[in-house]
Amino acid sequence: MISVTFVCLGNICRSPMAELVFKKMVDERGLTSSFEVSSCGTSDYEVGNPIYLPAQKTLKRHGVEGAHVARQITMRDVKNNDYILVMDSGNLLDVLRLTGGEYGGKIFKLLSFSQNPRDVADPWYTRDFEKAYSDIFEGCESFLNYVIEEKRDALDYDKRH
Ligand code: 4NP
Repeated sequence: MISVTFVCLGNICRSPMAELVFKKMVDERGLTSSFEVSSCGTSDYEVGNPIYLPAQKTLKRHGVEGAHVARQITMRDVKNNDYILVMDSGNLLDVLRLTGGEYGGKIFKLLSFSQNPRDVADPWYTRDFEKAYSDIFEGCESFLNYVIEEKRDALDYDKRH
C-alpha cells in the first residue's frame, strides 16, 4: 500500500482536484487497492467547506467524480503518508515549517515529477481552472508513472532475496 496526500493552501481547489484526479487514474490502471489517497490544506481558512464550485465544475467537465470536505494538515498526515505532494513552493515552505524541516525526503512539489518541473498554477488567483486541471493531470500522471516504476524495483528487489 502506497499512501499519498495532496496539499494546497485552502484544500478547496487544487489538492482535492488532485486527490480525485489521481484516484480516477489509479482506478483506470487497476491499482485502487494499492493506494491510499487523501488531501488537506496548510491553512484553516476553508476547513469544513466543500470543493469550490468552479473546481467541481471543471472536474465534472473532465468526467471526474467525487466530493471532499476541507481539512487542515497535521503532523500525523506527514508521518502517516509515504508521499506528501504539494502544489507550489509556498505550500512546500508551509509544510516544512510544520515539520521543523523534517520529513523533507517525502515532501515533493507535484510537478517536480514532470518533464517541466514547476508550481501548479493557482486558480484562486488566476481564475483559470482548466489550466490548474491540466497542470494537476500532468503532475498526477508523471507521479504515478514514477511511483509504479519505484514499486516495481522494490518488488524485484524482494524476489531476488
Ligand atoms: P487552494 O485555493 O489552496 O487551491 O484550495 C485557495 C483557496 C482558498 C484561499 C486561497 C487559495 N484563500 O485564501 O482562502
